[in-house]
Amino acid sequence: MPNLIISDIHSLKRNEALDILSQIARVEKKTFPTNEAFGFGEDLWRKKPNTRVLYATDGGSEIIAYAVYVRQKGVALLHKVCVVPTYRRQGIGLQLMSYIQQRLRKEGCQSIQLWVDQAREPARALYVRCGFEEREVIPDYYAPGRTGIRMVLDLDGEHAG
Ligand SMILES: CC(C)(COP(=O)(O)OP(=O)(O)OC[C@H]1O[C@@H](n2cnc3c(N)ncnc32)[C@H](O)[C@@H]1OP(=O)(O)O)[C@@H](O)C(=O)NCCC(=O)NCCS
Repeated sequence: MPNLIISDIHSLKRNEALDILSQIARVEKKTFPTNEAFGFGEDLWRKKPNTRVLYATDGGSEIIAYAVYVRQKGVALLHKVCVVPTYRRQGIGLQLMSYIQQRLRKEGCQSIQLWVDQAREPARALYVRCGFEEREVIPDYYAPGRTGIRMVLDLDGEHAG
């Protein structure tokens, strides 16, 4: 498994951030249907202080994975977690999730919430493995016939470290 370096696009200079965002947008386009693809444009970098975009590399210039969350007081809404297809099933998703959990706990966040498509088995398995619990099931949440599941991880209830 590559040695992951996880950073935040807000710690980059504008041009570097835009390069990472355009790489993310390319992976996003291949992974999600158009109506669910997140807008990874320049606005995200400049205007949304509560939104965090994390990306992982192995020290090179190509991204390996990324994640997006929004903090609303004690709750973080995890919008995206994605590993570039050729790097999947090597423990990278798990490493990224554990980084996010640690970081949010340090920032004083009490819980992480997310919505996942019932049909996305790898993602659901990853979240369950990280301790998330299914709290709500909403038929046709994403589109007709596509069920959404709300999952929550209580950070207070976890052991630190
Ligand atoms: C979901 C995703 C992030 C997992 O990343 P990953 O790096 O492949 O995951 P890991 O290798 O760290 O796997 C960790 C655990 O997740 C589960 N998992 C991951 N891929 C799986 C698969 N294809 N089938 C079943 N379980 C899977 C397993 O429990 C796995 O542990 P194990 O390998 O010990 O069995 C990746 O498949 C992905 O990017 N999918 C497309 C985007 C997506 O659906 N994102 C979620 C919605 S925003």
